[in-house]
Amino acid sequence: MRAAIHCRPTMRTFVLRARAAPTDSQALLAGVGQEAHTEILAHTLMNACFVAQAHRPGVVVYLVLESTADFSRTIRFDIDAMRDIGGFDERALLARIAQALDVSRGMGKDETRDVTSGVEVRTTSFERLVQTLAVDHQLFLMDRKGTPIREQAFGQAPCFLLTDHIPMPKKAIPGLERLGAKKITLGRTMLFASQCVVLIHHELDQR
Ligand SMILES: C[S@@+](CC[C@H](N)C(=O)[O-])C[C@H]1O[C@@H](n2cnc3c(N)ncnc32)[C@H](O)[C@@H]1O
Repeated sequence: MRAAIHCRPTMRTFVLRARAAPTDSQALLAGVGQEAHTEILAHTLMNACFVAQAHRPGVVVYLVLESTADFSRTIRFDIDAMRDIGGFDERALLARIAQALDVSRGMGKDETRDVTSGVEVRTTSFERLVQTLAVDHQLFLMDRKGTPIREQAFGQAPCFLLTDHIPMPKKAIPGLERLGAKKITLGRTMLFASQCVVLIHHELDQR
């Protein structure tokens, strides 16, 4: 693990709802640049957790993989507890995600298994995960039609909800809003989830 950067006022949590991402490890690895666009998971994880020559303390990332024959897989990365992730390039990060999927084989609904230090896998749905996070996080749904991020006040535990290239289902949004999620925007340009993460970090870094 590389040296930590300092002066971080908040915990930052990111949830990537990867609607097209397969829960089979080989299909995940084969999905780079294909319809599943599994590179999105690696890019988002990289930009959430790392800066040049350091990692960002206080960051937790949940990747929720939803293209499945049984249950969604939610992989939790706690950067402060992670030791050697084996590199931060696309291949290394996808290998770590694939490892978590292999560990999760045969799990029943809503089970949790440790993968390696700071990484765990759960058979938990996006909806269930967000319900849990709503208890002690301030939820933000990233949406081009939301409140400009500059105008938004942040507490100590913001949690940002993003999707891969497939949008959040419209019918899911009222449920998220009932849990307190507020829509915030980074401008009119449609960005990749990984680019949103960089801009969110930058905005919070300025506060
Ligand atoms: C590539 S976009 C999703 C594209 C998808 N076709 C759609 O229409 O939502 C990936 C994620 O980034 C978020 N996003 C993209 N641009 C944004 C922006 N300018 N402000 C806030 N969130 C943005 C989206 O809401 C989504 O969660």
